[in-house]
Amino acid sequence: MTTASPNSPFVIRPLEAADWPAVWALLAPTFARADTYSYPPDMPEPAARAAWVEAPAATFVACDADGTVLGTYFIKPNQPGQGAHVCNCGYVTADAARGRGVAAAMCEHSQDEARRMGFRAMQFNFVVSTNEGAVRLWQRLGFDIVGTLPGAFRHPAHGYVDAHVMFKTLLQADS
Ligand SMILES: CC(C)(COP(=O)(O)OP(=O)(O)OC[C@H]1O[C@@H](n2cnc3c(N)ncnc32)[C@H](O)[C@@H]1OP(=O)(O)O)[C@@H](O)C(=O)NCCC(=O)NCCS
Repeated sequence: MTTASPNSPFVIRPLEAADWPAVWALLAPTFARADTYSYPPDMPEPAARAAWVEAPAATFVACDADGTVLGTYFIKPNQPGQGAHVCNCGYVTADAARGRGVAAAMCEHSQDEARRMGFRAMQFNFVVSTNEGAVRLWQRLGFDIVGTLPGAFRHPAHGYVDAHVMFKTLLQADS
């Protein structure tokens, strides 16, 4: 589904094969910093593509009006089988595009997509506590910290720091 909400300057659409170089260009430095995700900092490109594009149920890109890729997210079931009604997403915004609302738009979009795909809730498994902008953003968008894993993330600068599990139901009141 391609959407550009009336209030959003971004177009969010499914990733196409030709988008991968631009997506990899924004994922690689994020993974290499190793301060927000637990992907290996030197993750080879094919492994990153497998994790970000091939394994998930769907992957999207957020673009500006001229088509430049500003961000990307994936959506997938958080668990197989009896846990498959709860989804998990990962989001990255290009360094140069941060602080402009790209991730907020992607997260809103992902919640709509998740409902459309039949998911009943969204769970983030490993939100690094020092990633304060992300924690604040997810809270603003309705996610609760439902648990905190003590020292679960080995931060390259801060050492062992907590990681949050964050959760939001996607059900309407009458569902
Ligand atoms: C976290 C991340 C996705 C936020 O993306 P973004 O497009 O900059 O987010 P937005 O512009 O929608 O910002 C939303 C809020 O986060 C804050 N914020 C988060 N990261 C920021 C950054 N690097 N620079 C400026 N503001 C940032 C903004 O202040 C804003 O808060 P406000 O609306 O209360 O003012 C982005 O920093 C990123 O890709 N980080 C690396 C990967 C990552 O941490 N992913 C999430 C893992 S849980």
